[in-house]
Amino acid sequence: MKSNPVVMGIETSCDETGVGIVRGHELLADAVASSVDEHARFGGVVPEVASRAHLEAMVPTVQRALDDAGLTLADLDGIAVTAGPGLAGALMVGVGAAKAYSLATGVPLYGVNHLSAHIAVDTLENGPIPEPAIGLLVSGGHSSIMMVEDLAGKVTQLGASIDDAAGEAFDKVARLLGLPFPGGPYIDKAAKEGDRAFVRFPRGLTAAKDMEKHRYDFSFSGLKTAVARWIEAQRAEGNNVPVNDVAAAFQEAVCDVLTQKAILAAKEHGVGTILLGGGVAANSRLRTLAVERAEDAGITLRYPRPKLCTDNGAMVAALGSHLVSAGVAPSVIDFPANSSMDVEVVSLANRL
Ligand code: KG4
Ligand code: ZN
Repeated sequence: MKSNPVVMGIETSCDETGVGIVRGHELLADAVASSVDEHARFGGVVPEVASRAHLEAMVPTVQRALDDAGLTLADLDGIAVTAGPGLAGALMVGVGAAKAYSLATGVPLYGVNHLSAHIAVDTLENGPIPEPAIGLLVSGGHSSIMMVEDLAGKVTQLGASIDDAAGEAFDKVARLLGLPFPGGPYIDKAAKEGDRAFVRFPRGLTAAKDMEKHRYDFSFSGLKTAVARWIEAQRAEGNNVPVNDVAAAFQEAVCDVLTQKAILAAKEHGVGTILLGGGVAANSRLRTLAVERAEDAGITLRYPRPKLCTDNGAMVAALGSHLVSAGVAPSVIDFPANSSMDVEVVSLANRL
């Protein structure tokens, strides 16, 4: 077991080629090359375009991270890489690169879960996570309430979206409003000028009967349809659509349900800490509302700075550093990239 290990993290699950380096909980480098501009005109990430961009960016981004940290590969105690979930071809680039670096240097390799990394990144901002904690994990592909008993290995999903992820809903509604891709940050910005009580859009899975079967689950597809219908009706009547107000009212519906259910989960499980993680955790209204409601409930709320919420390599390095410190054995080198990796698997086991 090594305290304050130096770990490099490689992230290529979607459109960001991220390479981060940490020493213990200290962030030394966070290099990110994004192909988002190449996808914007398609209104979504094009997997082949993302894979090719990762290939081109991989080696220069690793070099940039090492330079920023003032280190060489020989200084590393571990290399962590996102093994899944994510886009298969994109993941393969990062996993292949990480294996090559590990083989060439003899530095131990950890294949880790992208979603656990979104939780672990909080340690870079706020130090060790008090366990157990509730993780509200909200990204472009997932919206889950996680029980984090042990970030090194015991993470259980209490609930999740049964249809669209929160980030996906932001991106789809942004498109309806004519805002660019990815829509989350644009809705966040527009909503600041809007009235969140302008329309009351539906709060999915919060009715009494849904709370029995889907207590900690989310549904955002009905909300997206409600926004689409509302916009259509306005246009049919020749009215202008007030973009800022619709953005604010939609964002309120999402943040209301996310915070309500995360706090309920914490209360009902007797847990005193909630962590926000994933791209949507960068949302300013989600952060404010979560802080307010957590304070009322006597719960501590933690979140990382916005840049660490969206995909990056530092989060993978943070999880890797935690695994090394906890004495978790490295992964066997032949592990595959797994596009549908189980959310409860923190890192790929060492097969004996
Ligand atoms: O975690 P992430 O970077 O990638 C995935 O793992 O999916 O999350 C990306 C998602 C996108 O849907 C994006 O629109 C959303 O996070 N997002 C936001 C904000 N910043 C990014 N959603 C709402 N408000 C934001 N400020
Ligand atoms: Zn992510």
